[in-house]
Amino acid sequence: MEKERLVDSYGRQIDYLRISLTDLCNFRCIYCTPAETLPLVPPAQYLTRQEILRFVRIAGGLGIYRVRLTGGEPLLRKDILEIVKALKDVETVRDLSITTNGSRLKPFLKPLKKAGLDRLNISLDSMEVSRFEEVTRVKAYQEVMDSVLAALQLGFPVKLNMVVLKGLREDEIIRYVNLAKNHPLDVRFLEFMPLCGTGWRPDLVLPISEVRSIVHEKFNLIPLPRGKNVAEEYQIGDGMGKVGFIASLTESFCNECSRIRLSSDGLIQPCLFSDKQVSVKDLLRSGATDGAIEEAIRYAASIKPKGNYFLDEPFTGHEKDLEKYAKTPLIRSIGG
Ligand code: 5AD
Ligand code: SF4
Repeated sequence: MEKERLVDSYGRQIDYLRISLTDLCNFRCIYCTPAETLPLVPPAQYLTRQEILRFVRIAGGLGIYRVRLTGGEPLLRKDILEIVKALKDVETVRDLSITTNGSRLKPFLKPLKKAGLDRLNISLDSMEVSRFEEVTRVKAYQEVMDSVLAALQLGFPVKLNMVVLKGLREDEIIRYVNLAKNHPLDVRFLEFMPLCGTGWRPDLVLPISEVRSIVHEKFNLIPLPRGKNVAEEYQIGDGMGKVGFIASLTESFCNECSRIRLSSDGLIQPCLFSDKQVSVKDLLRSGATDGAIEEAIRYAASIKPKGNYFLDEPFTGHEKDLEKYAKTPLIRSIGG
């Protein structure tokens, strides 16, 4: 018998799972993490490949068919290729992707392709070496760029994420969109979200509307159907790729959210901005039945909040937004 699909308390269908494979990262991006190392979860606490696989199979029975692997930096996980292979063998997983900082990606590309990975998201916060190093706090621009080009050559669909921060220059925006004009890839501008531990301040946020108007002025953009996509996307006229805008603060898309997260140590996180979490690690390690794990997943969906703190009270760009930052619970990175 078909199982009842996973639907949250606001009627949103949950069909997308982001799995953090490790908290470790070789970057220290300023929008994601403090410069010093965060208290790390001991690797023994990480879900094993078999535990992840079981979780995904059970979630698949509830209609979760898109899976994204994140971190920290997911390629630092030693069994990443085995994980990808095993997940591709799960019948319900129809779309499997990785979000990576790209610095160690190049040698993994062919094996990942062979393992069946569908897509890649690569963080590329600047195409100017000095700014790249300022934002990521590491010297790895060339490695990332080489990986991007090699991924395209292998035929991977590639999305490039740029978190937009105050001070981003117009010529950088144009250079970035030109990359998508000249290559078959999607570039996406993301608003800086107030994640705990990042030193977020309202005056560091560059509202997406400012980036969008510059791009609209310089490029001929053809709107693409939005559907449940978090990004507002455009095909670049006379170009090969696309450009997208992700306005998590100023134009909330929480109403369309279809995702839940699984942390490296087995907590289901219904929303980045909620401290309500449901642990499945102990269930997985204590011989719980599939039914009990399914119940935990359904419960996590049922406590998914309506949205982040900016849904009902929009972002103002002023000091008062700091109160919302103070409420952000998560001190762990959301994955390069
Ligand atoms: N605000 C917006 N995007 C962020 N990311 C990480 N931290 C933040 C933040 N505070 C993005 C990065 C990365 C993706 C996984 O999440 O662009 O590519
Ligand atoms: Fe690492 Fe990604 Fe966080 Fe940057 S955004 S520090 S690459 S996890």
